[in-house]
Amino acid sequence: MTDDGQSRDLAFDAIDPRYQAFIGDYLRRYDLDAARFCRPLPADDEMFFKAILPNYENDLSIAAFKFVESTLRHYEAYRQVVEGALGGFANLGTVLDFASGWGRLTRVLEQKLDRRQIFVGDIYHDAVAWQEKTFGVTGVSSAPDPDDFEHACGHDLVFVGSMFSHLPDGLFQRWLAKLHGFLGHRGVLAFSVHDQAILPAGHAMDPSGLTYLRFSESGSLDLEIYGMSYVTEAYVVAAIQAVSPGASWRRFPKGLYENQDLYVVGAPGVDLSGLKVASPPMGGFETATLLPTGETEYVGWALERTPGCAIDLVGVHVDDRPVVSILPDRERPDVLAAFPGAPNAPVGWRFRLQAPAGAMVRLHLQSSSGLTGYAYAQATGPAALTYSGWSRRALRV
Ligand SMILES: C[S@@+](CC[C@H](N)C(=O)[O-])C[C@H]1O[C@@H](n2cnc3c(N)ncnc32)[C@H](O)[C@@H]1O
Repeated sequence: MTDDGQSRDLAFDAIDPRYQAFIGDYLRRYDLDAARFCRPLPADDEMFFKAILPNYENDLSIAAFKFVESTLRHYEAYRQVVEGALGGFANLGTVLDFASGWGRLTRVLEQKLDRRQIFVGDIYHDAVAWQEKTFGVTGVSSAPDPDDFEHACGHDLVFVGSMFSHLPDGLFQRWLAKLHGFLGHRGVLAFSVHDQAILPAGHAMDPSGLTYLRFSESGSLDLEIYGMSYVTEAYVVAAIQAVSPGASWRRFPKGLYENQDLYVVGAPGVDLSGLKVASPPMGGFETATLLPTGETEYVGWALERTPGCAIDLVGVHVDDRPVVSILPDRERPDVLAAFPGAPNAPVGWRFRLQAPAGAMVRLHLQSSSGLTGYAYAQATGPAALTYSGWSRRALRV
């Protein structure tokens, strides 16, 4: 919101240039064209303006970085499903990103696929129209009730990020049936939910296995169809088996976003038993302290959220040059409060270096899963760091 009370699109080139540099570097790690990815964020995008931005103290630069980071984490899950269940991007038919919002994921997909392969759907028809106009993809306009939505197409992948995590009982099963019906013969449906492990304190799980809380980030969706829901695995599995008895399915705890579980369900006859989806490590800087020696000491945290995996190395790069590798040197039980039900202990790290003013420091959080998480800081001068919503910045530069 601007001083005159008007909402405006956010242009990436209006944010702090240091965060623009972090974003450009991060996108290059994924072979993405930054200029193409960084089209302005439409003022009506609730995911950015109502969810991410307020979570980062309305700091547009940090929020824009977090938008990019969350998109790339989202894409990491997507990529693993495509490679593990569908033979890779080169062998992919058409895909539907349902509940796409304003197309966070489309910014990546349109660089990895032919636009004719990409279908996007949302109840916000202006968001769908904007994506059609901006990316040249095919839009489908959804409805509050699945019975009022028709779409005739057999897709290889129907991906639904963060919609089932907001559905009440009944609609949950009906949307699952509807979307599973959009799969082609080798197709897979991937959708995310909030597990009961992250049910907010003070609430109890409903005996049905789905607890529905009547609030959300949406400024306009009716609370009868969109709130906050928390589910047990038994609830989700019963819904899957009712839709497609005997279907192969997998659950990947914390597989999507920072806190959602990813479920993947095959079309009849598709075997998903070998599918693996890991979550890239998360982490961030907490302090950057200029020492009398002229060095700067950086301190932060990291968390591997994939069960059975661990962060085995933290590589430090300055302006793209590897300068030092360290190991996490302590556990950080205080961080756990922000990640209820995390399968691994959060860890802490610290290192010192003397780097040219303005240099970019990039951390590689390397996991035994084979995935890498990244965090950024500017070497000296007025501090710029990437951090996490709960770990407020404490800069001492
Ligand atoms: C939390 S947002 C996630 C958006 C997007 N998947 C992402 O990760 O950025 C949830 C989205 O679900 C959409 N949605 C809610 N009910 C829907 C329905 N009945 N049909 C299609 N989309 C719906 C909302 O409009 C919103 O864009």
